Amino acid sequence: MHFPVESHLCPVGEDQREALLQAPGFGQVFTDHMATIRYSKNQGWYDAKIGPRQALSLDPAALVFHYAQEIYEGMKAYRLDGGGTGLFRPEANARRFRRSAARLAMPPLPEEMFIESVRALVRVDNAWIPSTQGFALYLRPFMIATESVLGVRASADYLYCVVASPVGPYFRRGAAAVTLWVSDNFTRAALGGTGDAKCGGNYAASLAAQAEAIREQCDQVIFLDAVERRWIEELGGMNVFFVFADGSIQTPPLSGTILAGITRESLITLARDMGLVAREEPYAIDQWQDDAKSGRLLESFACGTAAVVAPIGEVKGRKHRFIIGDGGPGPITERLKSALTDIQLGRAPDTHSWLDRLA
Ligand code: PLP
Ligand code: COI
Repeated sequence: MHFPVESHLCPVGEDQREALLQAPGFGQVFTDHMATIRYSKNQGWYDAKIGPRQALSLDPAALVFHYAQEIYEGMKAYRLDGGGTGLFRPEANARRFRRSAARLAMPPLPEEMFIESVRALVRVDNAWIPSTQGFALYLRPFMIATESVLGVRASADYLYCVVASPVGPYFRRGAAAVTLWVSDNFTRAALGGTGDAKCGGNYAASLAAQAEAIREQCDQVIFLDAVERRWIEELGGMNVFFVFADGSIQTPPLSGTILAGITRESLITLARDMGLVAREEPYAIDQWQDDAKSGRLLESFACGTAAVVAPIGEVKGRKHRFIIGDGGPGPITERLKSALTDIQLGRAPDTHSWLDRLA
């Protein structure tokens, strides 16, 4: 699919852009353009283009406003060491977007169209990719139901859109490790629900728990399973890993209630490449506390596109309170993070063909 570019009459000036790229925060600054594709039941996908980034005009009865028929993705474009631009495993995001669409009864966007929309936007807004270490251009493809009707049913019309935002670290600068709040009253997902789809509703439902975490002076929530309130699942927007004194690592399995993180899968692969044992097995919150206290567990970290790899220093809850290791980043966490970011930045051999280099 071809994405014609509509010229922008007043893009941000070079000096202003360079100033914005110095300290963009996370998701606060946006590039000049956006990619869009429309869908209707009769026409299929049509009107693909790159145009100036602008407000959307929608009827107040559009289904997305009422029944939250919406999905999204999160990925990054990097300025590569030695020149050029790279996307990390865009086909994995395209596949997950298609799976999310199926769960929300939305039409599947063909994977090549997804990838091409992202590539086309990154090419046009290439000057917006920051060059500072640890910064990247965050890409947010999403799809919304646009048909105006109040009956509860799948929309006949959709808008797919990609916006781009130069970003720095997700967590405030200088934080050596994040503190987690164990939510024992809120859960994120139950089997048969939408926990393994990337739909906006999951995040709306996590906000009250996140507000509680902030009140408790924690950075993020760690959710437990909805049935036994015992098994560790994931954070609101990140997967979680545990590192043991015997050098093995573990992460909760993809049992249908957690998001299949692309960072998660990449880290499992990289850990195995390093000769580490990596398990996908359930881990109980009480066990985590016991193991952290006994020294059987030495490190833990959260991971995702936005957060990359974020060491977990402390865990608090109504029934739990423990420090992980010495409360700061551990050596295996650091090794895995470097292995991942070295591939993302084109510094290390791309043995799994994960990097999509844009011409
Ligand atoms: N879990 C949730 C709920 C998320 O929103 C994300 C972020 O996308 C992740 C995990 C990590 O996924 P990925 O590594 O593909 O970014
Ligand atoms: C991402 O990592 O891309 C996400 O969507 C998670 C969110 C916390 C920004």
